[in-house]
Amino acid sequence: MTIDLFASLPDAWPSREPIAEGAVLLRGFAGPAEAELIAALREITDQAPFRHMSTPGGQMSVAMTNCGSAGWVSDRSGYRYDGTDPQSGKPWPAMPSAFQKLAREAAATAGFAGFAPDACLINRYQPGARMSLHQDRDENDFGAPIVSVSLGLPATFLFGGLKRSDKTQRYRLEHGDIVVWGGPARLAFHGVAPLADGDHALMGRQRINLTFRKAR
Ligand code: SIN
Ligand code: FE2
Repeated sequence: MTIDLFASLPDAWPSREPIAEGAVLLRGFAGPAEAELIAALREITDQAPFRHMSTPGGQMSVAMTNCGSAGWVSDRSGYRYDGTDPQSGKPWPAMPSAFQKLAREAAATAGFAGFAPDACLINRYQPGARMSLHQDRDENDFGAPIVSVSLGLPATFLFGGLKRSDKTQRYRLEHGDIVVWGGPARLAFHGVAPLADGDHALMGRQRINLTFRKAR
């Protein structure tokens, strides 16, 4: 007699849900790494605390920090990548190996082998915080994808087309979900609806998003 050990598993893992040509939602992909990610996150934010940056359009409701050799910074004059945290005058914390590994594996699973990010933007959404529709276009090379990891409270992610006026689809992103977009979707407009209040068992009243990019 043979026993099929896998017959009772409901779904194939990893789950891969195409959301546009070049864009894939990997539900639960970061789940197995959650403890390592959360520990590494705490070390980063001890060195480079979350802050609300200003943009030419006003102050962001999302608080941000970075790790990696390039950090995304913004002030009233515009956006740029900078190796130095303007708040401390020191380099951004190094990108932890658990972050690099997760980003590389998620990108490869989505069809983008060889992803080597040099920037990880870390966004903190507290209830009510949102991110308006935008393109990620401050990077030098659009050949590399964007890998976006969700932790904590669920959010509604908006994903549109290459024009701001294109219709957006809405996706509920939960703790551990990863969205990867590249190729024909690399410059797709996207955003996050105002975060609903809640209390996540591991993360409390917040959502953390890690966005990995090849900036330089
Ligand atoms: C971003 O577009 O930079 C953040 C997306 C997200 O928080 O899911
Ligand atoms: Fe973005």
